[in-house]
Amino acid sequence: MRKGVQLIYSEVADTYELVNHVLTFGFDIRWRKLGAQIAAKKTGHKILDVCCGTGEMALSLSKAAAENAEIYLVDFSFPMLDKARQRKYDSYTSFILAEANKLPYKDSTFDLITISFAIRNLNTRKDILFAFLEEFYRVLKPGGTFINVETSQPSSIALKKVFHFYIKTFVRPVGSLISGSSSGYRYLAHTIPRFYSADELSFILKSVGFSQVDYINKFGGIAAIHEAVK
Ligand SMILES: C[S@@+](CC[C@H](N)C(=O)[O-])C[C@H]1O[C@@H](n2cnc3c(N)ncnc32)[C@H](O)[C@@H]1O
Repeated sequence: MRKGVQLIYSEVADTYELVNHVLTFGFDIRWRKLGAQIAAKKTGHKILDVCCGTGEMALSLSKAAAENAEIYLVDFSFPMLDKARQRKYDSYTSFILAEANKLPYKDSTFDLITISFAIRNLNTRKDILFAFLEEFYRVLKPGGTFINVETSQPSSIALKKVFHFYIKTFVRPVGSLISGSSSGYRYLAHTIPRFYSADELSFILKSVGFSQVDYINKFGGIAAIHEAVK
């Protein structure tokens, strides 16, 4: 499936941001910004934004982070990374085409790792997701922070039903209409209802070895921002 995901993102790169902004009514922008603001409060200047996509998270990070911040953007889709490269950032940036589970960095390299709206694309299968998280843990310095911004599962059953109905009804048609990729948005719509609740993801992060795991819910749990420390 990894090759499939790579192809999907390469296919939808031109319209990726527009589809997100339309489907979330622009809330994805706010959630990334909030994630970046939480991240910017952490100490240290060496930041990895993994699965960076078109660079929206890194842009928010560069605005919120300290002047001496260095942001390393990693993605395995060249068209997505190329979009990211075309932005103007307020910090030093470096762009790396790489697999998130084989990061080309030594152990304990980064003060901070961020990932937004991507972890559920890595895999919803626990053992595979674990391997990715272990890789993030490896390249994080002891005491460094991991921040994850992602769709989640509302705790209210009624809201969860409405949310899943919305995803099922609108993501594929709207995504295909704007991007021209029907199979891509079928897959992406498929991953959202299957992803973990905020508590389940916290448990997974703790199992990998992270401590001080905490999260904030947005919109009753439609999205969640997790932070965790190595
Ligand atoms: C939904 S997009 C998120 C992009 C961006 N972080 C954002 O906030 O919009 C997921 C990104 O993760 C990348 N990706 C998915 N699996 C990956 C993997 N195994 N290694 C590296 N990048 C991956 C995709 O190419 C895509 O750019």
